[in-house]
Amino acid sequence: MRRAVAALVLLPLLAVAAPTSALPFIVLHGIGDQCANHGVSQFTQLLAEWSGSDGHCLEIGRGTWDSWVMPLQQQADIICNKVKEMEQLRGGYNIVGLSQGNLIGRAVVEYCDDGPPVKNFISLGGPHAGTASVPLCGSGILCIIVDALIKLEIYSDYVQEHLAPSGYLKIPTDMSDYLKSCRFLPKLNNEIPGERNATYKERFSRLENLILIMFQNDAVLIPRETAWFGYYPDGAFDPILPPQKTKLYEEDWIGLKALDEAGRVKFVSVAGGHLGISKGDMKKHIVPYLADKSSKKMLQWSTSDVLGVDLA
Ligand SMILES: *[C@@H]1O[C@H](CO)[C@@H](O)[C@H](O)[C@H]1NC(C)=O
Repeated sequence: MRRAVAALVLLPLLAVAAPTSALPFIVLHGIGDQCANHGVSQFTQLLAEWSGSDGHCLEIGRGTWDSWVMPLQQQADIICNKVKEMEQLRGGYNIVGLSQGNLIGRAVVEYCDDGPPVKNFISLGGPHAGTASVPLCGSGILCIIVDALIKLEIYSDYVQEHLAPSGYLKIPTDMSDYLKSCRFLPKLNNEIPGERNATYKERFSRLENLILIMFQNDAVLIPRETAWFGYYPDGAFDPILPPQKTKLYEEDWIGLKALDEAGRVKFVSVAGGHLGISKGDMKKHIVPYLADKSSKKMLQWSTSDVLGVDLA
């Protein structure tokens, strides 16, 4: 009798520990952050734990420093090379992007020739349609440099080469300079007439799920709706257009409309400031896309039904 009870308790534990068929995921952190920081490493670890999948925070160069000063195209090239070298990603993987990291992730989806396939893309507070203000840096030597760069002509070659967020700073009343001289986002969003590349659209449209999480009190992204691809109209700061009313969507420059019409885009709004996601919302909006169905079922069965442990 006692043996039977022990077996009943042990069996599900083994089931949880056994390898699952869930795809691995990578985390791409935001500006001013690095994989070694507690917040992002704990975030990665919790998602791995809850989903039963293998998670990796991928670093670029010197972490925090390069997140500010390395042009985004270069950052994306580094990640493209890393994902191609990672044996465990060969069968496909998921991307979890934090803020600026989402633009790097999208560049990997669109540009990374011969890279492993990206299945689900979960975006938290991504400046997908640009932002009308460079995020505040803070103090220290890095921020003194950053603040000096911001005061220069933002679309000049020099700033474009030395300040990562200048690659997605989009002033709606200065669209001609943006389209002409901003080096990163106009290309990523296929915004430049005559230079649209169907390959980017084709690759982005292959995503199985695109989860766009917006923070209701986001004060870093201007406007916060950019996390859903919403933005200002060309030439004015109002009104804020919902994603479906933007030209990017209506003319379907990158496949967002195609994905949405196929029911593969989730527009999620959560409480909190920029990236301030709760554990409950992580479980509700991220984990289901990282865990495959069989591993999720095992987890629920073993923890709540048998052991009586509540993960929520
Ligand atoms: C479009 O992008 C693909 C992938 O990067 C590239 O191979 C191709 O040459 C590009 N096409 C044009 C017309 O630039």
